[in-house]
Amino acid sequence: MCGSHPRPIISPSVLASDFGQLSSEVQRMMDEGAEWVHMDVMDGHFVPNITMGPPVLASVYKTVPNVFMDCHMMVADPAAWVKPVAEAGGKSYTFHIEALTDPAKAHEVVELIHSTGMRAAVAISPDTPSSAITDALGNSVDMLLVMTVVPGKGGQKFIASCVPKVAELRTRFPKVDIQVDGGVGPGTVGCCAKAGSNVIVAGTALFGAENPKSVIQDFKDKIEEGRSSWGTEKALEGL
Ligand code: DX5
Ligand code: ZN
Repeated sequence: MCGSHPRPIISPSVLASDFGQLSSEVQRMMDEGAEWVHMDVMDGHFVPNITMGPPVLASVYKTVPNVFMDCHMMVADPAAWVKPVAEAGGKSYTFHIEALTDPAKAHEVVELIHSTGMRAAVAISPDTPSSAITDALGNSVDMLLVMTVVPGKGGQKFIASCVPKVAELRTRFPKVDIQVDGGVGPGTVGCCAKAGSNVIVAGTALFGAENPKSVIQDFKDKIEEGRSSWGTEKALEGL
C-alpha cells in the first residue's frame, strides 16, 4: 500500500487510441499531462476481444521508456502473465477477481505481482459486489479498480449503479488508490470523485478530446473537490 493521501492520477485508456501509432499516442497523452497510461490487455477468453500482449507493451516501453504502464489484465489466467508483463516494462498490474477459480487465492497473485516490483491492483466487474474485496485483500494491494462498464470494449455507457461500490471501498480503505474505468468523462467523473475515486481511466473522453490537457486538468480538479466527501454521507449525493 502506497502513500497516505491518494493523489489524483489520470490514466488514458489506449483502447481509444490509434493502435497503428501506439507509441506516439502514448507519448501524446503523457505530453498532455497524464501520469499513467492504461494498457487494456484482453486475451479472448476472459473477454471475447483480443487486444495486445507483452510484445506490444515491450515495444511501447522501448520507444517511451519513461511511461508508467497501468496494465489492466482482462485475462483468464492472471498469474501466468505477471512476469512477462513486468519484463515488458509494466509498472502496475491489475487482475480481475472474477478470473480466479478460488478468490481466496488472490493474495498469492498479489504476492507474485509484488515480487516483480510492480504495483498490484484487483478489479471488480459491474456484477461483482464490493464485499468480494475482503479487508485483508484490500489492505494488501496498491489499488482497487471498480469497473463502471462490463469489461471488453471501449466507448460504452457509464453504469452509475457501480458508484456506491467506490464509496463503500473508500470508507474501508482510505489510503488505497481507487480507480474507475469505463464511460468516464466530463459528465460522469464528478460522482466518481465524490464517492472516493482518485485514479481516473478514460479512453474516448481523452483520445477523442479536442483539448485533452484541459480535460485532464478538469478530472484532477474534480478529484480534489470530491475529496472532502470521501467517507461521509455526501459521497453519494446527487447520484
Ligand atoms: C473496457 C476497458 C476500458 C475502456 C475505457 O473493457 O477496460 O479501459 O477502454 O474506455 P472508455 O473510456 O471509452 O469507456
Ligand atoms: Zn481498462
